[in-house]
Amino acid sequence: MTQLRKVMAEQAASNPQQFWGEAAKAVDWASPYQEVLTQGEQAHDYQWFSGGKLNTCYNAVDRHVELGRGEQAAIYYDSPVTDSRETISYNQLHREVKRLAGALQDLGVTQGDTVVIYMPMIPQTTYAMLACARIGAIHSVVFGGFAAKELATRIDDAKPKIVISASCGVEGAKVLPYKPLLDEALNLSAHSVDACLIYQREQCQAQLQAPRDHDWLDCCERASDADWVALDATHPLYILYTSGTTGTPKGVVRDNGGHAVALTWSMKHIYDVGAGEVFWAASDVGWVVGHSYIVYGPLLVGATTVVYEGKPVGTPNAGAFWRVIQDYSVKSFFTAPTAIRAIKREDPNGDWLSQYDTSSLAVLFLAGERCDPDTLHWAGERLQKPVVDHWWQTETGWSICANMMGSDPMPVKAGSPCLAIPGYQVSVVDESGEPVEPNAQGAVVIKLPLPPGTLTGLWGNPERFYQGYMARYPGYYLSGDAGYMDEDGYLYIMSRLDDIINVAGHRLSTGRFEEVLCSHPAVAEAAVIGVHDNLKGQLPLGLVVLKQGVELSEDALQQELISLVREQVGAVASFKLVSSIPRLPKTRSGKILRATMRKIADNQSYQTPATIEDPSTLQLVEQTLHQMGVKD
Ligand code: COA
Ligand code: AMP
Repeated sequence: MTQLRKVMAEQAASNPQQFWGEAAKAVDWASPYQEVLTQGEQAHDYQWFSGGKLNTCYNAVDRHVELGRGEQAAIYYDSPVTDSRETISYNQLHREVKRLAGALQDLGVTQGDTVVIYMPMIPQTTYAMLACARIGAIHSVVFGGFAAKELATRIDDAKPKIVISASCGVEGAKVLPYKPLLDEALNLSAHSVDACLIYQREQCQAQLQAPRDHDWLDCCERASDADWVALDATHPLYILYTSGTTGTPKGVVRDNGGHAVALTWSMKHIYDVGAGEVFWAASDVGWVVGHSYIVYGPLLVGATTVVYEGKPVGTPNAGAFWRVIQDYSVKSFFTAPTAIRAIKREDPNGDWLSQYDTSSLAVLFLAGERCDPDTLHWAGERLQKPVVDHWWQTETGWSICANMMGSDPMPVKAGSPCLAIPGYQVSVVDESGEPVEPNAQGAVVIKLPLPPGTLTGLWGNPERFYQGYMARYPGYYLSGDAGYMDEDGYLYIMSRLDDIINVAGHRLSTGRFEEVLCSHPAVAEAAVIGVHDNLKGQLPLGLVVLKQGVELSEDALQQELISLVREQVGAVASFKLVSSIPRLPKTRSGKILRATMRKIADNQSYQTPATIEDPSTLQLVEQTLHQMGVKD
């Protein structure tokens, strides 16, 4: 560890008040906080910047206009799928957001209300998030690739006053109407909303149902501008649903104060990006990366962000990312390893890359899934730039481990997202909570309190928050990931401890897939595991046991189950591997042996668990996976 990084880590651990108090000076406060960190009796009972008031939208927009950056680009919207581009200045962003915030107020939205946003990668999605933040409404963005049922589940949990949506998304060559999905979700949900605000895109007009549905432009035309309100630092800014071990998603809650401080700090120290520079996260606003580094992070520091509506390949080719970097002089670029693998597959020699001038780029950041060394090396060799893997989660909102390119770059070790960031005290522990030796595997935990900007709870579910993260190792946050740390403190994240899988950087719950498969009338039981995939990292694979007497051909069954998952979870699930099996491997107490099944699927060695009820079921799994072409 370098001297500077060591000092920073020690300061953040021994005197978090001073460390984060210093960082908080980069944020404008409407009124000062009384304490940087308020610690209650229990380790998990703490708050950052309590008593302070601020507004995140003011910090991300108004402040830059007041400081004379109004003419500077705030957003570059680049959409190869609709063949359009737009530069939105901070002045324009300010006008759009103030007016939209006024329109939300006209629809009855007030401080503390929740608002669900179901929108594609267009600048209006950013306006919607900032408009909510401006008036103290708590937004919950739902990723466009989820099906109506998933949207309905989130609506029922967040209980929004209104939903903001757009007429369609555009995915490659496909125009996907959003309004029918929204209507279906609202029919499915028990909660009813007061209104829907719909942004009509020219690719597809949505049918508006009076009196519930309102046209975005009409409402903005009629509305007055809304000023920002001073909110408690601890007031929720947003809820973001993520997959948990059960089929019901968890609503991660983020506050205003800690979030603004942490993201501002991270832009400087990790990403090395400041006012007037261009940062691009090629993710989706529906994910945490999009929240933190398409919207809030870059705008909080007065940088320019890129809203890219396209794919790494196919829109129109494997040079798309390099073109965007060239066209907007991107300094710092963030994407998922799976996107680089997709480019590498189509352009292994970097022919597309060589057609563009990527000299503006300083660093490529990767996250969202484990970064395999091949992908890291390929990108580094082709780009001739540092490639930085960093580890984080929806829960933390920003990275736990990373190379700090803005203050103290360290040597890269392929396969590791580097050391813990100051403020995160990470360790690897065994079953009893004892730290393991260097290079030994265990559960990755983080000592409480977590730094500012990390989750403050799960929406409406304090018990699930406590049981899921805090109860297993008292005084520590359970990350849900397993891995090891080497003698130099470099962490290696190897797998999940739970039943979450990672498909193309998207976090999905096998429990949810199993629920859906079991809802099919022919299915008695189902087990879903994540199997290795060269492009997407993992793919879900389902094995189902049929009810007695069911007469359905294997082909018909597979088609029905694939369609069912697509309808219920969404296309993003990429669920295509499923088969029936006579029996599933189980322990004598009835627990399905998913971990052993995973090992079999990935051609790893395994031992027959001592508690297995019927050892022959493992052969059944081997045979079935072989027939499916999954296993050698
Ligand atoms: N709205 C609606 N549908 C969506 C969607 C959205 N926002 N995003 C994805 N989908 C659909 C796709 O159209 C596709 O549908 P199909 O089965 O009809 O073809 C399905 O969901 C799977 O999409 P995707 O995971 O994007 O796979 P792909 O095969 O189209 O592309 C990659 C493969 C690797 C190029 C792509 O997964 C990718 O760019 N991944 C990077 C992910 C990322 O940035 N994650 C953020 C974490 S940091
Ligand atoms: P999400 O909450 O969707 O961001 O997913 C978080 C999970 O993705 C983590 O708990 C890890 O399992 C995985 N993940 C994210 N980034 C990395 C990384 N750099 N290396 C390994 N796994 C990662």
